[in-house]
Amino acid sequence: MFASHADYGRLEEDARRVLDPAVFDFYAGGSGDETTLAAAAAAWRRIPLRPHVLRDVSVVDTRVRVLGHDLAAPVGVAPVGYQSLAHPDGELATAWGARRAGALLTLSSRSSRRIEEVAAEAGPWWFQAYVLRDRGLTRELVRRAAGAGASAVVLTGDTPYLGRRRRDRDPGLIPEEVFGVNLAHGFDRALAEQAADVTYDDIAWLAELSGLPVVVKGLLRGDDARDCVAAGASGVWVSNHGGRQLDGAVPTARALPEVAAAVRGAVEVYADGGIRTGVDVLRALALGARAVFVGRPVLWCLATGGQNAVADGLAELADGFAHAMGLAGVTKVSQIDQGLCAPPAAGE
Ligand SMILES: Cc1cc2nc3c(=O)[nH]c(=O)nc-3n(C[C@H](O)[C@H](O)[C@H](O)COP(=O)(O)O)c2cc1C
Repeated sequence: MFASHADYGRLEEDARRVLDPAVFDFYAGGSGDETTLAAAAAAWRRIPLRPHVLRDVSVVDTRVRVLGHDLAAPVGVAPVGYQSLAHPDGELATAWGARRAGALLTLSSRSSRRIEEVAAEAGPWWFQAYVLRDRGLTRELVRRAAGAGASAVVLTGDTPYLGRRRRDRDPGLIPEEVFGVNLAHGFDRALAEQAADVTYDDIAWLAELSGLPVVVKGLLRGDDARDCVAAGASGVWVSNHGGRQLDGAVPTARALPEVAAAVRGAVEVYADGGIRTGVDVLRALALGARAVFVGRPVLWCLATGGQNAVADGLAELADGFAHAMGLAGVTKVSQIDQGLCAPPAAGE
């Protein structure tokens, strides 16, 4: 969101200063030893690029079509729950900022503001669905999201239950009224947790009840991606949940080429996790992503400057991507291919 990973580090430090320490840790933390979390950004940075030269790059066009939406740049907002802990306007500010920047928004099932209110502020948006233990609650959420204008359902597949995060030290961090803001009055908390028995069959279930394309988020393997496509997914999203689920899971920068090769263009591929600069966006597209999504960078913008900072941060990321494209000698997103990345050196 930023010219460099150092800029991102400064933004994170600014957010740390303004946030309650328990909230900062809830957002920043990962599961287990945080191995996957720590590896995420470094894995992108380690991919060397092979720029072209002597191409006329006086005009660089970052526009891209993502599941039917014409976007100014291939950059979107990942679903992140409980944003009112970062800023009183929470998801409303993020939706406004994303719309202002022309970025696609993904709204979490764990939104701390009502779906309909967020929809009123949003440009194009997708709804992220967890299948909850009470499937009636999921049905209601997904139908409401479709009714409010979501254009796709993102089924998060990597969260049969939550990863164990040692930085989450305050069990009362998410007040009941925030947790339940989108749930029916008198819901049973245990039944509103993620279901552990979610399968590929749920892709068709969500598609049928929403009438929308379903993207599966949380994939790290080519075989799973192929199974999702066979089960009716319209897109696959390479993610390890920002290092918050299985600790030790592969960085998305390493998983992405396998997933892209497995689906062979049958559906669009997206990626998130540790993407911080326009150069990272370029790397992800070179490795097969149609678009990328950012989570924590948006939270830090939201915490430090509300809706305007979210808009500015996303615009800066898109601008950094345009700059990186020009320096790499490409002027259209369609010219970005795997040849822009150097294969790993022997021993890496
Ligand atoms: C505080 C926090 C809450 C999150 N909540 C959700 C969620 O509700 N649903 C979901 O699918 N992913 C959730 N994620 C994962 C993000 O969508 C995304 O995969 C991840 O944050 C991307 O990595 P990045 O933060 O390094 O950009 C959450 C991540 C964080 C940090």
